[in-house]
Amino acid sequence: MTKFIPEFPKNFLWGGATAANQIEGAYNEDGKGLSAADFVEYIPKDKRTKDNAMEITSEQIRRTLSGESTARHPKREGIDFYHRYKEDIALLAEMGFKAFRLSIHWSRIFPNGYDEIPNEAGLQFYDNVFDELAKYNIEPVVTLSHYETPYGLTEKYNGWVGRETIDHFVRYAETVFKRYKDKVKYWMTFNEINIITISPFTGAGILSDKEDNPIQAKYQGLHHQFVASALATKKLHEIVPEGKMGCMLARMSHYPNTPNPVDVLKAQQDNQANLFFTDVHARGEYPKYMERFFVENDIHIVKETGDDEILKQYPVDYITFSYYMSMLSSDSPEGEVTEGNLMNSLKNPYLEASDWGWQIDPIGLRVVLNELYDRYQLPLFIVENGLGAYDKVEEDGAIHDTYRIDYLRKHIEQMKEAVGDGVDLMGYLAWGPIDLVSMSTSEMSKRYGFVYVDKDDEGNGTLDRSRKDSFYWYKKVIESNGEVL
Ligand code: BG6
Repeated sequence: MTKFIPEFPKNFLWGGATAANQIEGAYNEDGKGLSAADFVEYIPKDKRTKDNAMEITSEQIRRTLSGESTARHPKREGIDFYHRYKEDIALLAEMGFKAFRLSIHWSRIFPNGYDEIPNEAGLQFYDNVFDELAKYNIEPVVTLSHYETPYGLTEKYNGWVGRETIDHFVRYAETVFKRYKDKVKYWMTFNEINIITISPFTGAGILSDKEDNPIQAKYQGLHHQFVASALATKKLHEIVPEGKMGCMLARMSHYPNTPNPVDVLKAQQDNQANLFFTDVHARGEYPKYMERFFVENDIHIVKETGDDEILKQYPVDYITFSYYMSMLSSDSPEGEVTEGNLMNSLKNPYLEASDWGWQIDPIGLRVVLNELYDRYQLPLFIVENGLGAYDKVEEDGAIHDTYRIDYLRKHIEQMKEAVGDGVDLMGYLAWGPIDLVSMSTSEMSKRYGFVYVDKDDEGNGTLDRSRKDSFYWYKKVIESNGEVL
């Protein structure tokens, strides 16, 4: 047998990914309005329950706005990227980044979401960031909405439940496409669009306690996001002919817990429930398998005339996804459960797990890449992957994060194998190249970065940046285009 040695394409986009609400801070500076992320409270680990992990209630909003709540909101603080972007981008450039994913905080541009005129100071900030990236030839990859629905839209329409939100989103998209048409080529609409079914406030600014039928509201809101995403794709192609629009899925790959056909069927159903989102974005129509789900759950999506045509006419150009772990499906889920990205899973005895219980499955990434490419035949882009871990700063200031290097190396190896399998892969963006505020727990101690940020869970610290061992390792990976791992 001849040994096959896969290689990454020459123009492979190596880099890292972030979200405005997890890095910028400056939540009320220069005209920015509040967004969904600005309401997320920090809850210390010993007080955290599954119920308060991510969802927000109307009562919490009221207490926050009235000043009754004394809770901290770490996503308002981020890591002060707003004032330190030059220093941060210089560090990314030192690692040799080819691409950097960030989101535009929608409420910096349209403070209430429904405003007619954009906020010039907000637009200028991203101009500055894109110019700084261009200085180092770093390609920006921009998410339009990363859990950052402006609160004004929640107040007025209960977020994406209201059909009006489509128009406001499209106006926002058009504004930034026009403004940055010479600076940004790669876009995506909604980060991990599937989160709407798990945490509708996070994904869509929807307060479930305001709805008589929350499940109906979620899928209606999702329909509005699908239509908005297709219309934004249309606008991008009109305004930036060489622009590329992607959709973004938290890929939750499910294996059957046993070879029992009932578990195999359950895994297939769980995978369909996850791939449904990319099916609509890429194939431009609702898949047949969802019809049964909608009937069984009494969901009636209200569509306007023309919606189906819009979805069909403007599918995405490429598929982006996050991959952190795989999960197990069982018809009778019993046994040890472990934490995971957005959802828990039964524990897989063949896998190790992170400090937060997320199961580490590099081969699963190869499986996912092959499966997505087989299914859509569109270029793929891994826009999030990484290990959230506790880091220890040594006395001399060094951070020996061998566990992180090990995690990333194993995933990149499998990614390379997938490229060898024939997958068209555009790039790899490690999550949180500079430590940032955790999405699910609002902790700082859950660190993903190559660059350490001196800040703790309570918000104390100098915010100074320092290079971890993984910084030097990733620099070599990029320099060698994935040859030296
Ligand atoms: C993804 C999100 O789900 O996972 C990111 O798109 C998030 O915003 C990342 O930060 C890691 O999750 P966490 O909860 O560890 O921050």
